[in-house]
Amino acid sequence: MKGIILAGGTGTRLLPLTALTSKQLLPVYDRPMIFYPLNTLIRASVKDILIIVSPGHSGNFLNLLGSMFRKFGVNLSFIVQKSPRGLAEAYILAEDFLDGESSTLVLGDNIFEDDFTEAIRTFEKGGRIFAKEVSDPERFGVVEFDENHEVISIEEKPIAPRSQFAIPGIYIFDKDVVERAKTLTPSERGELEITDLQRYYLSKHMLDVRLIEGAWFDTGTFESLFEASVFAREKKLGDRSHPMINEAIREFNAEYKGIVSLKK
Ligand code: G1P
Repeated sequence: MKGIILAGGTGTRLLPLTALTSKQLLPVYDRPMIFYPLNTLIRASVKDILIIVSPGHSGNFLNLLGSMFRKFGVNLSFIVQKSPRGLAEAYILAEDFLDGESSTLVLGDNIFEDDFTEAIRTFEKGGRIFAKEVSDPERFGVVEFDENHEVISIEEKPIAPRSQFAIPGIYIFDKDVVERAKTLTPSERGELEITDLQRYYLSKHMLDVRLIEGAWFDTGTFESLFEASVFAREKKLGDRSHPMINEAIREFNAEYKGIVSLKK
């Protein structure tokens, strides 16, 4: 199982914060946002991770993460997404990296309290998505399912949602997703939609859905970014991260302080 973090995009809804750095490097309480999706993957034992970044900010990602996890056996790769064409493009960009393996894709601006270890470990083939009951499903991909958790329908940002269950930004797909992504055509909003990939697996009866527990934030707005920071502080999300993440941050800070004092 390989991991992908999609951290591209222009973040225009968060301007001027995103004029100088990437949305996924903005602070969520005590750390840049990217550490939360990294934690989602690392604590589920996914240690071969591709981070897809936007061209303007790729240097920032490298400066922060370039050698941070080397000694911990986590292999981070980076690729630049020149102009964002939708979430599903991640699979086309990741083709060589995936090399025929299954993957878990986490959106770089999605913060989860839940632990996905079991869901990732037990995945065999097809696709696995997740669901979270929300009050504003029209902002998200929406999944409708029956009492046996059989998926009935999937829609992207529907005006009249068929359920209250949003599809959070974490997706597990088998190797076929790459070829399938290549056949997609852009939606009305001009994007290769991740929900179209989900619908493909649904049409093959190869898609399952699991409810997530705990909090979930899509930090694309000022409000949700702020709420995520408050939550991270209250629930000590940082302290509850995988120890390797906190150790890597401590070492980075110590090394950085050393460089700064040498310069003085
Ligand atoms: C994207 C997906 C949507 C999903 C959401 C989760 O929306 O298209 O299906 O529910 O992420 O954060 P976007 O963030 O592009 O509006």
